Amino acid sequence: MITIKSEAEIKLMRISGKIVGQALVEIRARIKPGVTTQEIDKFAYEFFKKNDCVPAFLGYHGYPATICTSINSEVVHGIPGKRVLEEGDVVGVDIGAYYKGYCGDSARTFAVGKVESEVEKLLEVTFESLNKGIDQCRIGNRISDIGNAVQKHVENHGFSVVRDYVGHGIGKAMHEEPQVPNYGRPHQGPRIVEGMCLALEPMVNMGTEEVKVLQDGWTVVTKDGKFSAHFEDTIAILANGPENLTRVN
Ligand code: MF3
Ligand code: CO
Repeated sequence: MITIKSEAEIKLMRISGKIVGQALVEIRARIKPGVTTQEIDKFAYEFFKKNDCVPAFLGYHGYPATICTSINSEVVHGIPGKRVLEEGDVVGVDIGAYYKGYCGDSARTFAVGKVESEVEKLLEVTFESLNKGIDQCRIGNRISDIGNAVQKHVENHGFSVVRDYVGHGIGKAMHEEPQVPNYGRPHQGPRIVEGMCLALEPMVNMGTEEVKVLQDGWTVVTKDGKFSAHFEDTIAILANGPENLTRVN
C-alpha cells in the first residue's frame, strides 16, 4: 500500500530529512585520506543521538552499523570498518534516521582528495541523474517517469544504471511502497499524487550494470571491479512540485 502523508506528517519528515542532510554535510567535511570508515560511522551515531534521532539502518535485517560506506567498486551497503580512505578513492555514504517515528534517507558519494577525471564525471552524472529524477516527481506523472529520466541521463554519458536495487516510498518505515526503479519506459506504474514521499537513489556504474553481493552478506560490488556512485534524497510531493527534504545546501 502506498501511504499518503498529511501536512503534519510531512512536517516531521522535514525535520528528519534536515537532520540527515545536515549529517551528510558534517560528514563531507570529515572525508579525507587517513580517515577510517568506522570513524565516520561513529560520528553519525553520535550526531543522531544529539539530535534525538534513531538510526534507521542499525539492526535493520541485522545490519551492524549506523551508516553504509561503499568504496570505489562497492555500489551500496558497504559496512564501515578499519579500512582507511586513500587519495583517489570515492566513498558512498548512505545514512538514514527516524525523528519522532518518521524516516529520512540520503546518500552522497564523495571524492577522497583528487580523483581521476572520469571518476569525477561519474559522480557528477550520477548527481545530475538524481536531479532529473526529482524533476519528474510531479502530480500527474507516473513512477516510471522518474527512472526513465535517470536512465536516459546516465546512458547519454556512457555509464550504466544498476537494476538490482531501487528507490522506495518512505515514511513511518524506511522502505515503503512503491518501488522506484532507476530505469524503464515512461508513463508506467502508479501515479504520483500529493502527499507521497519517495526516496530516489540512482546507483550508477562506470562499466557493467551487473553487481554481486560479497561474502559478508551486505556489500554490493560491481562484477567488473569498476567504480560506482550512489546519490539519494528523500522527496515529498506537494501541490506545487517536489520538495527535497534531505538537501540542506
Ligand atoms: N539507504 C538504504 C536504502 O535506501 C538502506 C540501507 S540498507 C541497511 O535502501 F541495511 F543498511 F539499512
Ligand atoms: Co533508500
